[in-house]
Amino acid sequence: MQEKITLLEQELKSFQGRNTADLELFRMKFISRKGALAELFEDLKEASPERKKDLGKSLNKLKQEAEAKFEELNQTLENSTGPGEVELDLTLPPIPNKTGNLHPLSLTRYRIIEIFERLGFSVADGPEIEDDWHNFSALNFAENHPAREMQDTFFLERNPDVLLRTHTSNVQIRLMEKQKPPIRAIMPGRVYRNEAISARAHCFFHQVEGLYVDKNVGFVDLKQTLYQFAREMYGQDIDIRFRPSFFPFTEPSAEIDIQCVICGGSGTLRDGQACRVCKTSGWLEILGAGMIDPAVFEFVGYDPEKVSGFAFGMGVERIAMLKYGIDDIRLFFQNDLRFLRQFG
Ligand code: DAH
Repeated sequence: MQEKITLLEQELKSFQGRNTADLELFRMKFISRKGALAELFEDLKEASPERKKDLGKSLNKLKQEAEAKFEELNQTLENSTGPGEVELDLTLPPIPNKTGNLHPLSLTRYRIIEIFERLGFSVADGPEIEDDWHNFSALNFAENHPAREMQDTFFLERNPDVLLRTHTSNVQIRLMEKQKPPIRAIMPGRVYRNEAISARAHCFFHQVEGLYVDKNVGFVDLKQTLYQFAREMYGQDIDIRFRPSFFPFTEPSAEIDIQCVICGGSGTLRDGQACRVCKTSGWLEILGAGMIDPAVFEFVGYDPEKVSGFAFGMGVERIAMLKYGIDDIRLFFQNDLRFLRQFG
């Protein structure tokens, strides 16, 4: 038994406490009524009467030492502030990560790019400050054609040939001027229009343009590509429809609607109220598209007898608003963290 006492005494002397967990270990062993020291006191009852006195003395000494050391450890931990002595309590919940997150428009743009890259499209870029040729004339907008009016253009006052692009279709022209077919590319970017800012419109926003030129490209390819896109973006059950439309640079042209994501296409909400998002029509426009007009091919030096192609253009804000159920375009540009953090 004396041996056990000596061993425990050595352990006590060499014990080093760095945090509350260590302190608790110490308490269990030397102070607690169920600890090793308490056990020795139990053993003492069985010791022979002649040895009891000495053993009892040693044990009492050990007990006092333990109490003193416990007190000392307690004090040091309470006073400690240094980094090496900060307690690490592994049972605490983690501190929430405060790093930033991507903007919902970036998330949407990346998703769009991802979908089209898998369909074999590459990504191209073009200038936001543009000339009349690339933004209008080469896209078959005749001079004084009312279609120019549709796009409230910001011109440079001193030089009306310099403007802020009104759409990303300018990059189609730049790509075709530079490259021979086949071309399969999407072109994301920012565009500008002189419009009053409201819940539905802003003076700048983002588009993704698409262009596919090769031999024998047909409307069926356009349809298949856009079906695929809509399903990847909004889910396999989404329905889409093509409506005849007009753009100077495509013939035939179409606008594409998806089933309203708010009312599921029924036009009424679950509580029987009319759906305001699709104005009860059950459909929402997501993009414009069409087969590239032969006149455009001629402007860029392609032979319309040899190649054909399709193009499309979509508004990134629109796609994002429908994806996340956002009802005001201005939210994207106000930089309100309460809004932005919801996309982390
Ligand atoms: N540029 C058009 C716009 O901003 C969108 C568009 C429609 C682009 C049809 C296209 C297209 O490439 O084929 O409203």
